[in-house]
Order: sequence, then structure tokens, then C-alpha cells
Amino acid sequence: MFMDPQEILSLCKRRGFLWPSFDIYGGMAGMYDFGPLGVALKNNIENHWRRLYVLQEGFMELSCPLVSPEPVFKASGHLDTFSDMYVECTKCGETYRADHLAKDLHENPATLDEVQLGKLLRENGVKCLSCKGDLTEPKRFNLMFKTMVGAGKAKPGYLRPETAQGMFVNFQQVYRLGREKLPVGAVQVGTSFRNEISPRQGLIRLREFHQMEAELFVHPDDKTWPRFGAVKHEKLLLVANSGETKEITLEQAVNDKVIVNEVLAYFMWLTYRFVLDVGLDPKKMRFRQHEKTEMAHYASDCWDLEAELGYGWVELVGVADRGCYDLSAHIKHSDADLTAFEKFDEPKEVEQEGVKVKFDVMGKMFKGDTKIVAEALSKMPLESLKGRESVPVQAGGRTHDVPAECFEVAMRKEKVTGRKFVPHVIEPAYGVDRIAYAALEHAYSKSEKEDYITLRLKGLVAPFKAGVFPLMAKDGLDGIASEIHASLSSAGMHTYYDDAGSIGRRYARMDEVGTPCCITVDYQTKDDGTVTVRDRDSSEQRRIKKENVVLAVTRLVSGAGLKALEGL
Ligand code: GAP
Repeated sequence: MFMDPQEILSLCKRRGFLWPSFDIYGGMAGMYDFGPLGVALKNNIENHWRRLYVLQEGFMELSCPLVSPEPVFKASGHLDTFSDMYVECTKCGETYRADHLAKDLHENPATLDEVQLGKLLRENGVKCLSCKGDLTEPKRFNLMFKTMVGAGKAKPGYLRPETAQGMFVNFQQVYRLGREKLPVGAVQVGTSFRNEISPRQGLIRLREFHQMEAELFVHPDDKTWPRFGAVKHEKLLLVANSGETKEITLEQAVNDKVIVNEVLAYFMWLTYRFVLDVGLDPKKMRFRQHEKTEMAHYASDCWDLEAELGYGWVELVGVADRGCYDLSAHIKHSDADLTAFEKFDEPKEVEQEGVKVKFDVMGKMFKGDTKIVAEALSKMPLESLKGRESVPVQAGGRTHDVPAECFEVAMRKEKVTGRKFVPHVIEPAYGVDRIAYAALEHAYSKSEKEDYITLRLKGLVAPFKAGVFPLMAKDGLDGIASEIHASLSSAGMHTYYDDAGSIGRRYARMDEVGTPCCITVDYQTKDDGTVTVRDRDSSEQRRIKKENVVLAVTRLVSGAGLKALEGL
């Protein structure tokens, strides 16, 4: 069934999930405010993600600044290449993302360059969508928001367009905290910013949005994953860039080289499991591999988890093999040692390039600091020492300018116990807002006859876990209901107390915001201490003892169904 996203967005606004920001000033495209239900939904999604990545898989959670200095994005390539193409109407000035205007003219316009895209739009007579004016040729536009940091001699900074860079620049800390072993992983959950050209699709294309990103640092030769065996028989629907679409087991996908290795395959499966946990419809999910020309500048392979929505197929998560791109780039630009160390089984005699400190020269210049400067110099990447008149060396909390006459880089034979190498990165990158929207759309159902809306949200993500109602707000029923409400709150469950209007209307209000069950206190409660529990999806009811309410709601929220209330 085709779903009109406007219908979902209007429910969201009416019931307090979300609405366009700065409405009283005419709004601002690509920005949304989240109300109480939307905040709860997003928190529930993020917390479940943490459960998988931090608790189950052992990634370390970091929290880095939203503003980063320019060198970070010079190194990462975002300054030079993180751009989209836009065209402008020569009559009314409206701007459009050029590839979006070509979506019905080419199978994948994201793979075209400026010239190809301009030609395609021209030859097909594409005009301004609002005034039919002529369009300019496509131009590139960098998507990062720029700012200035500090007063006076202010330096440029950028709002981060992804959370990932914070984790790459912190590799040394992550590696150290992981006891210098690989694989080791970091995650970050937080806001990212992109100055999108024409954000017109609700939560799908925002200028400020939440990401949940994981960076797994692995040995480049390690293509296996310890927990792969446990999931290898699971199936995924894969749309490969070879043009083939098939549903196959992870094991077959790796054996046939459709997915490049077990690590990528495992995290694709974890991603699929996560979106099923938060309630997405398995019949509307697929993994699509990027075309070579579509890949982000840092990726050597990338699979998008896509969901079928009212907007068409939409990317919710990108699972990318970033190779050694990011760490190598930051090593080159910062001179920091972002390598890992691999110990050999036996020491080896090798001829290799190394740095030899000339202590006699250095000693005269650096006196008491010689030892710490020499040590720091010896740890620096060789590339950063070659062909320079002097090298800035960080030691003892200061920068020492070390002239080239203090050391030499030359080939020599030596016994080595191991080698340094740059780890590779596997990155599952999730967009929280898109996942939240997809969860709402896939959960939305409306009965044709009565226009009765039910959001069949999974209990795990539902903003309220239960509605609690006294049949009447009198005769002590309200007191008992308040006690039940308090006991659910103490157990950590967000519930909604409502004593106004007919019971039917109260159920309807809860169904419309996805509350899995409702507890009603009636006159029988006073006689025998039982309450009714109503299940959202079947509308069926059971009576249980009021002291078992917390257990009953816990079971219904976990999806166990009314049968699980037997004996309560
Ligand atoms: N670190 C890699 C990275 O950022 P990405 O594919 O550009 O990869 C990851 O972004 C996810 O972030 C996407 O799959 C999407 O869910 C979300 N996302 C990206 N741009 C977005 C936007 N403008 N609005 C909302 N979500 C966005």
C-alpha cells in the first residue's frame, strides 16, 4: 500500500511527536523540533542501539565536540569533496539538487558528474518545478556549515557532517583503552549537520540530524569474525552492484564474494537485526551495494540498508569498508602516530628504513630534554621526517624544533619484534531520524471504515509502555489507578494516566500513539483486586491481579502477547 508521508507527519504534529522548527517565524527547511513522544521514540531507538553496540559488541562510546577545526576536514577530504550539485532557476531563484531532478531520467543519477548531469537535464527539457523557468548548469556546493572560532585572530571551524571523524582522531586513546589489541571499536551517538541543498522530505533530508556511528578498527588481513558462525545461516536480501538481486545466506554471500568478508557481513546482519528489533517491516527492507562511481570519497565498498517508504526506497544505514583511508589521511596531515603494533611470534632480522638519532649533536642542543625529544622523534612516522630542514616534535608538553642534522633516516639491518601498521575501518553509520520515521510509517495502520488509526510500534520503542485509566475519576478508582501508575513509573516505564472522556476514546488516543497496552481500574477492582489489561493489536482484554501489573506490562512490551498473562 502506498503511504502518504504527509499523513504520518500530520499525525506526528497533532500528537506531539514532531513538527517543523521555528514555525512562528515561517519555519526553516530541513529542521524539525521533537516533542515529548518524538524525544522518547528517538531515545528508545538510541538506547537499544547502545545495548547492541556497547553492551553486546563491546564498542566504547565517545562524545566529541560538534565543532571541529579546519585541519580535521582538510585531512578527511570533506573540505575538498563533500559536496552535492545544485541548479538554480534563472527566473525565480529556486534551488534544486541536480541529481534529484534527474531521478526519473536515469537509473542512478548520483553516479553522474556535473557535465553528464547538465546534459541530461538540458536534453530532457527539465525546468523549474515552481515557475517553469530555465535552470543553470549544475554547480558543486560543499555541504558543511562553516563558522569562526574565537574573537580577533579567529580560526575557521565546521559543524561536523558526521560523528566519525571524532573517533578517527581519537584512535590512539581508543587503542590504548582497548589494551592495544585489535579489533577494537568506538561508537558515537549525536548531532551531525549538513547544509542540504533543498531539504523537502520531512525527516529524510535534514540539515541537523542524529547519527549513531560505529568505527571498528581491524587488522587489514583479518577477514574473519568470531561471531560470524552464529549468524552465517541468516539470510539478507542483497542488491549487488553487479546487477544481481538475491536473498542469500551470509555464508553464501561471503563464499561467493558478494560481500567482501565476514566482518562486513556480520555488521550488515547486526544492522538488519537492529531495524527488525525497532519494528521495521522485513518485507520492506533490502541492502543495496553502492556503484563504484557513487561511493563516498573514503569508501572502498558500501552497502546501504534501504527501507521502502512513501518516499520510495530510502537509505537508513550505510555499512562501509573505509579501508585505511581515514587513519592514513590523519597521519599524513597531523604527523600523529595512528598505527597499531603487531608482535611477531619470533623476532626477525630485517633490513628496513629507520630513524637514527645523532645523540652527540642532539645532546648539545637539547641538553636535559635530549632523552624525551629523542624518544618522541623515534616514534614519529618516517614519512614526516624525510626531506625537512627541521621537524616539530611534541615532548614534555612543548613543541621542540629539531633540525635535520640531529637524525638520519636510512636503511639498516635490525632485529625487530613486530611491525606498525595502519588499521582498516568497518563503519556501520545509522541515521536516527530516518529510522524513527521508518518505524512510524511501517507501524501506521488505518481502518478503512472508521478512519481509526493504530500505530503498531514495537513495545521496545513505543513512547508510552501503557495507558492507565480509572473507569471513573471517583469512588477511590482514581486512587488505585494512581498507585498503579506510580508502580509502573518506579519500574522505569513511561506510562500515561488518563481519567477524562469515555474509555473508548482513551483507548483510541493510546492506539494512535502506539502504546502497547492499557490498564483499566473498575468497580470489580474494589471487590476482587483485579484490573483489565487491553492489548493494542488484538483489542482483546484479560483480567489480572493488580499487584501483577508491572510484570504483565513488561511481558506485553516485550511482544509476548496476551497468552503470557495466564496465571497473573
Ligand atoms: N560516516 C558515514 C556517514 O555519515 P552517510 O551515509 O552520509 O554516512 C549515514 O550517513 C546515515 O545518516 C544515513 O544512512 C542516513 O540515515 C543519515 N543521514 C545522512 N544525511 C542525512 C540527512 N541530511 N538527514 C537525515 N539523515 C541523514
